[in-house]
Amino acid sequence: MAKSRLQYVCTACGASQTKWAGQCGDCGEWNTLIEGIAATANPKHGFAGKTTDAHIQALADVHLETEARTKTGIDELDRVLGGGLVHGSVTLIGGNPGIGKSTLLTQTLAVLSEKLGCLYVTGEESLQQVSLRAHRLGFADKPLQLLSETCVESIITLAAKQQPKVIVIDSIQTIYTETVQSAPGSVSQVRESAAQLVRFAKQTGTALFLVGHVTKEGTLAGPRVLEHMVDTVLYFEGDQGERYRMIRAIKNRFGAVNELGVFAMTDTGLKTVSNPSAIFLSRHEEPVPGSIITVTREGSRPLLIELQALVDESHSNNPRRVCLGLDPNRLNMLLAVMHRHGGIAMYDQDVFINVVGGVRLTETSGDTALMLAALSSFRNKPLPNTIFTFGEIGLAGEIRPVANGEERLREAAKHGFRQAIIPKANVPRKNSKIDGLEITPVTRVSELIDAAVRY
Ligand code: TYD
Ligand code: MG
Repeated sequence: MAKSRLQYVCTACGASQTKWAGQCGDCGEWNTLIEGIAATANPKHGFAGKTTDAHIQALADVHLETEARTKTGIDELDRVLGGGLVHGSVTLIGGNPGIGKSTLLTQTLAVLSEKLGCLYVTGEESLQQVSLRAHRLGFADKPLQLLSETCVESIITLAAKQQPKVIVIDSIQTIYTETVQSAPGSVSQVRESAAQLVRFAKQTGTALFLVGHVTKEGTLAGPRVLEHMVDTVLYFEGDQGERYRMIRAIKNRFGAVNELGVFAMTDTGLKTVSNPSAIFLSRHEEPVPGSIITVTREGSRPLLIELQALVDESHSNNPRRVCLGLDPNRLNMLLAVMHRHGGIAMYDQDVFINVVGGVRLTETSGDTALMLAALSSFRNKPLPNTIFTFGEIGLAGEIRPVANGEERLREAAKHGFRQAIIPKANVPRKNSKIDGLEITPVTRVSELIDAAVRY
């Protein structure tokens, strides 16, 4: 028998090192190496010039099959999955505790179980708890199969017997395999259990959902390799206290990424929101300083969101820069651009930015809105509440156009917005004018600031 030897595994990327070090040599993260036992080498993987069933094929000869899909019956989930659940695909769903992962998957499986065999494996809750939830959601009579088990070998044995078409593992961090000796939830356990499940799914054509916990920093707990092993990675976004929950596709081998599905949490589970473009707008009765609307594009839909800024005199040597819902580096960059190209200095001010509704703004099209919101709060002058803006700002002080400008304009006009401050290159051509919309085109940061001052 091979001797098990000690090694150090990185909790961020899963790479193993023979010596402990402060920094992982593979991914560069600090303080992530922890002690673990090396899995004994598998002699089957060695190269011995052996014969194989695999053969090399020319691209043109590869037989094409469009992947078989089944609609889950939940439109917003189908949307982020790229048009339905692909057979034999593995989907990882991450999100904060209590955001609704178990709820969504119970709903999905209950609906799907009418068409396909479905198995819900729970390692966190008892069968009573799962069943109680299904009752609450009104799915008590659905032919859904449940299993409370945490050993991956047992799960696979039972699944091979039952032959379900869809399996949910809630959650992958509670599952362990007998082949690895470390504790459940540790890097090697999660990686090895997931690998076995993925292999099973691919061999049998079973669609597999893995629920993953997230760390305090908001990334999936356990090794990053989990994201590489699966076909699709979905993240829940939104605050637990908020009514709306969003699912974003971070990676999808069968569809577009960054597609967003929107749900509302009700007392009977998650309900899809099919027209979410204006749900995050809070109409202020009176215009308020520091607030402006921007139109972002999440996946294939425009979304109107409100950006709020509070700029206040700082009493510290290090003024605070706080961002909720967008990248803090972006704020620092834009404040520097505003100083250099607009002559407005905020180095002695605390700046707080919030994207209303717990939305994450991932696009650069929110740059002009961020700058105008900060400026409006700084000057304590509100902008009209029928105004909106979008556009990217470059380091040279230029305002760059964004994709799908006309669609954004139409969406905002549809919701009653009347004035737009947008990049010049995004102004629609003469024959496609939008009725009732007053457009102020800008090309430089100085023009943007002038335009805002005029309102
Ligand atoms: P849950 O789906 O268990 O979250 P997760 O698996 O991501 O940890 O629970 C989501 C929250 O939603 C929970 O706090 C209770 C609440 N909830 C409702 O508001 N309505 C419902 O119908 C259900 C089932 C849960
Ligand atoms: Mg859960």
